[in-house]
Amino acid sequence: MLNFEDTTPTRAAAPMPQDTPQPAEPVSAALTGIHDTRRIKAEDKRIINGDADVNQLVPFKYNWAWQKYLDACANHWMPQEVNMNRDIALWKDPNGLTDDERRIVLRNLGFFTTADSLAANNIVLGTYRHITAPECRQYLLRQAFEEAIHTHAYQYIVESLGLDEGEIFNMYHEVPSIRDKDEFLIPFIDTLCNPNFKTGTPEDDQKLLRSIIVFACIMEGIFFYVGFVQILALGRMNKMVGAAEQYQYILRDESMHLNFGVDLINQIKMENPHLWTPEFRVEIAGLIKKAVELEYAYAEDTMPRGVLGMNASMFKEYLRFIANRRCQQIGIDQLYPGAENPFPWMSEMMDLKKEKNFFETRVTEYQSGGALSWD
Ligand SMILES: [Fe+2]
Ligand SMILES: [Fe+2]
Repeated sequence: MLNFEDTTPTRAAAPMPQDTPQPAEPVSAALTGIHDTRRIKAEDKRIINGDADVNQLVPFKYNWAWQKYLDACANHWMPQEVNMNRDIALWKDPNGLTDDERRIVLRNLGFFTTADSLAANNIVLGTYRHITAPECRQYLLRQAFEEAIHTHAYQYIVESLGLDEGEIFNMYHEVPSIRDKDEFLIPFIDTLCNPNFKTGTPEDDQKLLRSIIVFACIMEGIFFYVGFVQILALGRMNKMVGAAEQYQYILRDESMHLNFGVDLINQIKMENPHLWTPEFRVEIAGLIKKAVELEYAYAEDTMPRGVLGMNASMFKEYLRFIANRRCQQIGIDQLYPGAENPFPWMSEMMDLKKEKNFFETRVTEYQSGGALSWD
């Protein structure tokens, strides 16, 4: 049995070196206005390599991160709130959808069912522990839960339609256009998730920044968009309206994930300008170009013919347009000057207000407690 009196060191027992001044009697800070010098000041916080206590959310320094956390919570939704009956009837009707439309739905779910698990694992096992600003960690916790909701939503669609789960969930191994996108991402996720990886040198800090850019600007900012446009285009034609409703909520969440990622990247750049070298920028531009090619190959594979008034070449233009936007957001020269948006209606989808139910599938309005109005 342990004897705590014998094993617990006490302050009185510690020898005091002769030349160390004796500490003054503690004086109440409430009386003197003098605070313990170990207390955190906002200006001490850093996004990476910070040494301020990550357990103390306040004082706030990164108000943009806290505001995004509040906004994300106010947008809370759950997949089961969306009525899937019309989708189920349409899917089961042999004449309900064309083969090309069915291919779009299946390939879409094939990519997204695993993509959001990759995203969640990247946050929880990778990014989170390398970020030393508690406001940003708070947002990442919310984002991780949203990724779980997205995986749930895709699973819910697969289950509602009675699809072959094995076929859908294995597409990221078995369908080359999906596998190529995931194989592009995985090394950047592995870097952050490697338990031996830590930041602190310019080289390692660049590895972190590169992975954050790939995750936010390429995965969430480019690789999701062919799929989003396709399913939302189906919804606009009054087809698969339940799935489209879910995608609309997911798109709203993802555009906030992207915007948070952009703010995070720009703040890291501001605090660590030595990382943003010309060579690094060239490398990032090359990764964005490669991502556009992969996403275009995915568009061609999912849409071998024109469908829903869209065709693969419109997606080439669209991907160039959004790649330019990603470059502009993080301060890289545009890669495709003059590219235009062939799907201007997508911005309407992103600006979804909670009270607006675009596809009219939702039975009830969801509001979290904090977002309720009591007057
Ligand atoms: Fe997601
Ligand atoms: Fe996301």
